Amino acid sequence: MRQTLVAGNWKLNGSKESIKELLAGILDGMSEAKTDVAVCAPYIYLPLVDELLSGSKIGYGSESISEHDSGAFTGEISGSMLKDFNCQYAIVGHSERRSLFGEKDADTANKFAAARKYGLTPILCVGELLEEREAGITEEVVSRQLDAVIALEGIAALSDAVIAYEPVWAIGTGKTASPEQAQEVHAFIRAKIAKRDTAVAEKVQILYGGSVNGGNADELFAMEDIDGGLIGGASLKAEDFLAICKAG
Ligand code: PGA
Repeated sequence: MRQTLVAGNWKLNGSKESIKELLAGILDGMSEAKTDVAVCAPYIYLPLVDELLSGSKIGYGSESISEHDSGAFTGEISGSMLKDFNCQYAIVGHSERRSLFGEKDADTANKFAAARKYGLTPILCVGELLEEREAGITEEVVSRQLDAVIALEGIAALSDAVIAYEPVWAIGTGKTASPEQAQEVHAFIRAKIAKRDTAVAEKVQILYGGSVNGGNADELFAMEDIDGGLIGGASLKAEDFLAICKAG
């Protein structure tokens, strides 16, 4: 049995005050969480998150990472900097990074490698656009996204990673994939990995992301290959986030 993980992705949200309140609320309700719990915060708040969560059971990390170690890369944040603030996770390849900031599969693979190099667990996001689903190429898209990482880092690298399947049409839209639709893609991803390495396929946590909330988390997490969720909107209020952590 794989442990379930619920990870929050705060995106471009929060302030010192709101984060203090949010984390106090989550810490307060943690005894009822059935899943492992993590939060991914805007870079600038990571020192605060580190201070507030050190010694707790809640993991934390960044929403992206530079593929570079150091040097003339204005505005970037490296894996060693994230480690300096005790981060455990780094999201890579989120669809908003891909669509709004031009990150290609190869960039995502390099970021995945940078996270691993510094001992961070990459949360690798994959998922198709609505038109790709409608064109019947969901599996092809997800395969291409995974293959870029596997080609660079090897299949075994996925055993130190988390995969998040996030259909782009379900992100922030209130339109969740049905448990069956999500399970189908999760099973495809696991089977694809199993063709190369069954032990890695058994071990890797595959989270679902896209409009998960307290009302649908239970049935999603009950599916065989869904090992938790990556949560955007519903991770910004302690009560909503905890309702998801109590599922599974
Ligand atoms: P959402 O976002 O839960 O607001 O749909 C999920 C994500 O983008 O990771």
